[in-house]
Amino acid sequence: NKGKYEHYMQKEIHEQPESLTTTMRGRLIRGGSHKAKTVLLGGLKDHLKTIRRSRRIVFIGCGTSYNAALAARPILEELSGVPVTMEVASDLLDRQGPIYREDTAVFVSQSGETADTLLALEYALENGALCVGITNTVGSAIARHTHCGVHINAGAEIGVASTKAYTSQIVVMAMLALAIGGDTISNEAKREATIDGLIDLPNKVREVLQLDQEMKDLAKLLIAEQSLLVFGRGYNYATALEGALKVKEVALMHSEGILAGEMKHGPLALVDENLPIVVIATRDACFSKQQSVIQQLHARKGRLIVMCSKGDAAAVCPGESCRAIEVPQVEDCLQPVVNIIPLQLLAYHLTVLRGFNVDQPRNLAKSVTTQ
Ligand code: UD1
Ligand code: M6R
Repeated sequence: NKGKYEHYMQKEIHEQPESLTTTMRGRLIRGGSHKAKTVLLGGLKDHLKTIRRSRRIVFIGCGTSYNAALAARPILEELSGVPVTMEVASDLLDRQGPIYREDTAVFVSQSGETADTLLALEYALENGALCVGITNTVGSAIARHTHCGVHINAGAEIGVASTKAYTSQIVVMAMLALAIGGDTISNEAKREATIDGLIDLPNKVREVLQLDQEMKDLAKLLIAEQSLLVFGRGYNYATALEGALKVKEVALMHSEGILAGEMKHGPLALVDENLPIVVIATRDACFSKQQSVIQQLHARKGRLIVMCSKGDAAAVCPGESCRAIEVPQVEDCLQPVVNIIPLQLLAYHLTVLRGFNVDQPRNLAKSVTTQ
C-alpha cells in the first residue's frame, strides 16, 4: 500500500524517520542520568566476546548492502579495535579469498536471499568463521544460516532501489560498533556522542527530507545529462558510491561514485564545463581536503553541485555557477545517513521526469537469487 505516495520508492524515502526509529527501538538503553548510554543487540549479546577476540571483521554484501557496510567501516574500526575489511560477495567467491576460523564474517543483505551473499556465507561457514547476519527479512536464508545476527527492522521494502534499508543498515552497524567497542575509557566521548546522535537522527532525517522540492528542481536541470559524477571521501565515500548507484539503477543515467582522493589519478581528465559533478563536503575531518578538491574542480571549470553542512554554502561555493545542497550536520559517523537522502530524492525525481519505471527499473529484480 503506497498510501499518499505515487511510488514505493518515494514512500520508502519519506518514511525513513519512522523506519530508523523502529530500527533503534528497544536497542538503546537509558543510563542512570536519563541519557541513553548503552546499546543492546539481543541477537549478538552471547557472541560479543568472540567478535571482540576475532582477528578481523570482514563485511560481505552486494550493491547497496555493500555500500552500507562501507559507510559503517570507519566507526567499526575506530570503536572495535579490530581490523575491518570489505568483500563484494561475488568477488570473494571468484577469488576464493582467504576467510579464517579467527574471522568474524558479517553478511549484510536486505532480502537475506541474494545468491552471491548466500554462497559467500556457505563458503565462510566451511572455512570456520563466526558468521553474523544483518538482514531485514526474518526467516530469510541468510538470517537462518548465520550463527547470529541483527534484524534491521526497517519494514518491508518494495521498491527495487534500496533506500530505507540502506539507512537502517548503517544505523545497525553503528550500533554494532558501539556494542563491540564496549565501554572502554578511550571510547567514552565518541560513544556518548554517537548514541546521542542516534537518538536525534530521525529528527535530522525529517529535516533533510524537506529538500524534496529543491532536489526536484535540481533534477529538472539534470534531466538531459548523459552522466553525473559524485565525489566523496572518508565517511562519505560510501555516499558517493550509493548516490551514483541510485542514479544509474532507477534514472538510467550513467553515474559514478569517485573517491575524491583519487581525483588526480585519472578522473580529473573528465572535468569540463558540461559534466555535472556532485561533491560531498559536509563538516568532518576531511572537510579541508574536500575544499581543496572543490577549488581544483572549479579551476578546471567543473559544473559543481556541493553538498555541505547548513550555513556553509557561501564558504564552500567557489563561484556563481556552483549550486549548494545544505544538509543538517550530525555526528560524523552518522552523516552518511543524512547525506544519502538528497541523492535518493534526486534519483527519484530524475527517474519520474525522464519517464522511467521507478519501482521496477528495466532488467533488475528486487532480490537477485541467481548468480
Ligand atoms: C527479538 C525478537 C523481537 C522481540 C525482541 C524482544 C525476532 C525476530 N525478534 O529481537 O521480536 O521484540 O527479541 O527482546 O523474534 N539472527 C541471525 N541472523 C540474522 C539476523 C538475526 O541469526 O541475520 C538471529 C539473532 O542472533 C537472534 C534472532 O535472530 O537470535 C533475532 O534477532 P533480532 O530480531 O535482531 O533480535 P532482537 O532485537 O533481540
Ligand atoms: O537484498 P540485498 O541487500 O542482498 O541486495 C543486494 C543488492 O542486490 C541490492 O542492494 C541492489 O544493489 C539494489 N537494487 C540497490 O538499490
